[in-house]
Amino acid sequence: MDNFPDFKLAIDDPDFFVGRDILLEEVKQNPCKARIILGGRRMGKTSLLNAIQWSLLYSNSNQSNCAFPVLINLQLVQPNNLDNLLYIMICQLIKAMEEWHELPKSSLREDYRSYRRQLVKGTIAIKLPGLEASFEVDNPNRERRLIKEDFKRELLKKLSDLRQNNFNGVCFILDGAEFITRQESWAGDACSYFRGLKDFDRDIRPFFGIILSGYREVKEYQQKIGSKLLNISDVRWLNALSHSEIDRLITQRKQHENIPLSDEGVTLVKELTGGHPYLVQQILSFISDSFRKKTSLKKEELIEDILEHHDNDFSTWWNESHEVGGCGDNEHLTYYALVEKRQGTVKSLSEHTGLKGREVKHALDVLVGTGIIQSLDKGNYKIGARLFEEWVVRQKI
Ligand SMILES: Nc1ncnc2c1ncn2[C@@H]1O[C@H](COP(=O)(O)OP(=O)(O)O)[C@@H](O)[C@H]1O
Ligand SMILES: [Mg+2]
Repeated sequence: MDNFPDFKLAIDDPDFFVGRDILLEEVKQNPCKARIILGGRRMGKTSLLNAIQWSLLYSNSNQSNCAFPVLINLQLVQPNNLDNLLYIMICQLIKAMEEWHELPKSSLREDYRSYRRQLVKGTIAIKLPGLEASFEVDNPNRERRLIKEDFKRELLKKLSDLRQNNFNGVCFILDGAEFITRQESWAGDACSYFRGLKDFDRDIRPFFGIILSGYREVKEYQQKIGSKLLNISDVRWLNALSHSEIDRLITQRKQHENIPLSDEGVTLVKELTGGHPYLVQQILSFISDSFRKKTSLKKEELIEDILEHHDNDFSTWWNESHEVGGCGDNEHLTYYALVEKRQGTVKSLSEHTGLKGREVKHALDVLVGTGIIQSLDKGNYKIGARLFEEWVVRQKI
């Protein structure tokens, strides 16, 4: 099954990634920028960051602004201070450049996947001492740390190596930035340092891109401390997939798994999932399985099965356990209002809920980014996945 992705994991296969075209193009056009990409759990952040990685690696090398991507999963590497993070960033850059250099470069799909496999092994190796042997800085205690000056020196050196390989910048992509914003003792320092590199450092500024991914916690952290990083970043919430993107996704899976899904079935998938990418994939897996096992599948049974299997996911999206950084009271009130009204604007929902306009707007942004409501034109919003709505309604009973 090596040729077939596990649709419960982030997509790392270019053949199975759909949508996000505009954002990918923007990053390609301007990779040395600060960006914050926000979305709820399973909204496709990691998949998008993978797509950014392969699209930068394989972007047209004649372009004057090609940046070499360095993808870092913060949950995996768990830096314990800023110097350690800077050390990890340089290690990953070195490792990524080595692997890229050795790649035969034949087809995007096969190359990228083997490149990823090597890098994942490399990420594990970062936890082990020894990689700093390739640094030119003095590190007498073999501590896995780089002070800012050394980071800058190493980065400038690598930038000059990269230029010989047709990349004239580096784009660091940090997945799961909550890991940083939760570090009371050094998060502020990290954000100011990256802002400084992006803003004031003439040697680095044009050649240094940084992308952070996260959910509302990352955005609110930046707002709360008036983070200088937020001020210079392009901030985006991910949306659910559009109708044409869902069509593309379904077509791919139909082809690969021979799912004989009728037009009526496609409409049902759209309605039940509201374009939430994870739900679309999971519902297709259900349908595919039942076709393979030749069991008949009724709409009601499908709904019950999914509600049962994804109870945990739904509970997390709704944030039943009231964890920091998830949906809160304002989001719940706004969602209930939409369940009743079916459609609404900031103004009408504010009247309905008694919340202030800006509270409703903020709640709507979070709900759209969680993938459970949809933003329409003319400032209108409506309920997204029917499956999720059904789950919410049942909680109230
Ligand atoms: N652009 C996409 N194309 C196809 N499937 C996607 C896409 N984005 C997300 N998915 C599906 O959604 C699931 C969750 O995506 P992931 O990137 O892991 O989300 P996050 O990092 O936000 O939690 C994946 O397992 C994949 O099946
Ligand atoms: Mg992820």
